Amino acid sequence: MIGRLNHVAIAVPDLDAAAAQYRGTLGAEVGAPQDEPDHGVTVIFITLPNTKIELLHPLGEGSPIAAFLEKNPAGGIHHICYEVDDIIAARDHLTSEGVRVLGDGEPKIGAHGKPVLFLHPKDFTGTLIELEQV
Ligand code: CO
Repeated sequence: MIGRLNHVAIAVPDLDAAAAQYRGTLGAEVGAPQDEPDHGVTVIFITLPNTKIELLHPLGEGSPIAAFLEKNPAGGIHHICYEVDDIIAARDHLTSEGVRVLGDGEPKIGAHGKPVLFLHPKDFTGTLIELEQV
């Protein structure tokens, strides 16, 4: 059902410092910061030959990233995103298998302008999984 790894998202306490490290130390192709108010994050996309890295930083009140950074002050991997062809079919299959979908269960438009859903980390070996329809 799942296809390619679309991205790995890393929550960082200092977006500029993390971007400079990926650009300078790792020599990666690093984009400009983008505010995503619907998701409570500022994102920087890093394009690798086979996938993307997203650096996430809290934006506004009640950001889902703020609590994560409180627990992980140095930053850390926040979620991984797998591509699916049909997000509704994927959701229906997963819920029939007992997997919990976060929020109201309806896809939201993600940072790439495509429908996304998040799956409960307790149902997936402690990993927050995002599904993106491509
Ligand atoms: Co993501």
